[in-house]
Amino acid sequence: MTNGVFQIAIDGPVAAGKGTVSRLIAQRLQFLYVDTGAMYRASALIALRANIPFAEEAKIVEEVKKHTIGMHAPTVEEQDGRLTTVLLDGEDVSWKIRTEQVSQGSSIVAAHKNLRAELVRQQQEIAKTQSVVMEGRDITFRVLPDAQLKIFLTATDTERARRRHIELLEKGQDVTFEQIHTDLLERDKRDMERDVDPLHIVPDAWVIDTSTLSIEQVVDLIVEKVHTVEGS
Ligand code: DC
Repeated sequence: MTNGVFQIAIDGPVAAGKGTVSRLIAQRLQFLYVDTGAMYRASALIALRANIPFAEEAKIVEEVKKHTIGMHAPTVEEQDGRLTTVLLDGEDVSWKIRTEQVSQGSSIVAAHKNLRAELVRQQQEIAKTQSVVMEGRDITFRVLPDAQLKIFLTATDTERARRRHIELLEKGQDVTFEQIHTDLLERDKRDMERDVDPLHIVPDAWVIDTSTLSIEQVVDLIVEKVHTVEGS
């Protein structure tokens, strides 16, 4: 790739483990981890704070352009279980974008063509000058179509719901497996059926089903592959 940067593009459905896996790969390879979902979440938070309904595409895009969404690896003081620190105009919103309201909102605003165009532009800018592990829903075919490594990370829906359920219970949230499972299927459906860049598997993607693999096994597989691609 130009400038000697290496791009790893990872797509996959809700709760497939993309975040955890990407963060660990980024640490191992000293690449920047970019959680693009966090940018859609931050956009939903921006809309909420400005009292703009999630359906109002033009107003949301206009408002989002007035703000700066930033991201960096958590510093020592910030290590509280987050995978990345997300800044909105310098304010730490890493946890404020993880609420149920923002999750649902992000999947609605992510269907807006013009918002996607703006965020994709920002994401491409980030990946131009540094090696990245970028994960989301349109990275392999829209954001980084020339990435050296394209991965579609997935797992069965019950396994994904089971993992998400455990994660929320550990955080002390009182939710049932059924609630999580229903919400996950709803968000998957929206991601795969939206008109603009629906989530799909590109022909040159490496599909990894993580249902029966540990996080370490997935990370090892991918890091090994990067070394093979780099050496070829
Ligand atoms: O991965 P996540 O749950 O944090 O993503 C939040 C929402 O943003 C999710 O509903 C899908 C959407 N999204 C997207 O449409 N494109 C991306 N590249 C990343 C996320």
